[in-house]
Amino acid sequence: MKVLWHFEKEVPESIIISLQEAADRSLLCEGITVPCAVSVLFCDDKKIAELNTQFRQISKSTDVLSFPTVQFPEGKTAGGCINLLRKEYDDELEACYLGDIIISVDHARVQAMEYGHSFRREAGYLMIHGLCHLMGYDHMTDEEKGKMRKMEEKILSDVSLSREEKDTSGFPDDDQLLQTAREAMKMSYSPYSGFPVGAALLCSDGSVYTGCNVENASFGLTNCAERTAVFKAVSEGKREFTAIAIAAKSVAWPCGACRQVLNEFAPDLRVMVTWENQVREMNLKELLPGSFGPKDLL
Ligand code: THU
Repeated sequence: MKVLWHFEKEVPESIIISLQEAADRSLLCEGITVPCAVSVLFCDDKKIAELNTQFRQISKSTDVLSFPTVQFPEGKTAGGCINLLRKEYDDELEACYLGDIIISVDHARVQAMEYGHSFRREAGYLMIHGLCHLMGYDHMTDEEKGKMRKMEEKILSDVSLSREEKDTSGFPDDDQLLQTAREAMKMSYSPYSGFPVGAALLCSDGSVYTGCNVENASFGLTNCAERTAVFKAVSEGKREFTAIAIAAKSVAWPCGACRQVLNEFAPDLRVMVTWENQVREMNLKELLPGSFGPKDLL
């Protein structure tokens, strides 16, 4: 599937890779043999509310909007209309343009928290829900709704974004990693700043190393939670990391020194931060652009 990605609000690259996989999978699940294209815009609540007002006369924000360009006959979906898709084929685009999907990142984050699953799963669900609409699915009657839900779950489970598909590998999922970071925060020794931080570092073998900040009366000797976790892991023989969760009382992205230390072992690390009931994610590449690391000394 040719996906034209547009970002008014940032989404980590690792999540876009999962969503692209889901979009590709949807063509296979639906049995579409004609190359197709869609556009996906990630925006904030304000923008989606504006679009909702402008195009649907509903003046409030929502999680996802979809605007199909191909109209399928009543009761039919894209897979059963291959000739129609061929007719709609756009030579310049080299694909049949199915339409536009708009996703509110703000809504997706809140819903992920409410449902108790990852932002990755929620963003995947919203995109596939929109994509199913573009492929002719709807949820007006119970029968239509049943068919749509079945297709959504088929696509999402095929690419391991299913809601039920938690922890199949024995690896902790994002929520467990975040919870471990919150627990690690309780060990913090931070009498001077009064700002406890906890970290949980996920190794590529599924093991997790925790850390907390350890302050000192000689302030400069303080060690951050992230570096505590990295040094614990490396001293136990671990050098490959896939994700780190960091918990604090307010938003706390890793400091510059920690970004550099994390970059030494995992330049592509997923970095999640949590405070109160909020979660955000970025890739270390985004947090440390133009990084200097082992690759530069080879
Ligand atoms: N801190 C961390 O543990 N990690 C960071 O990335 C930012 C700061 C700690 C260090 C210090 O104990 C306290 O937070 C206030 O700076």
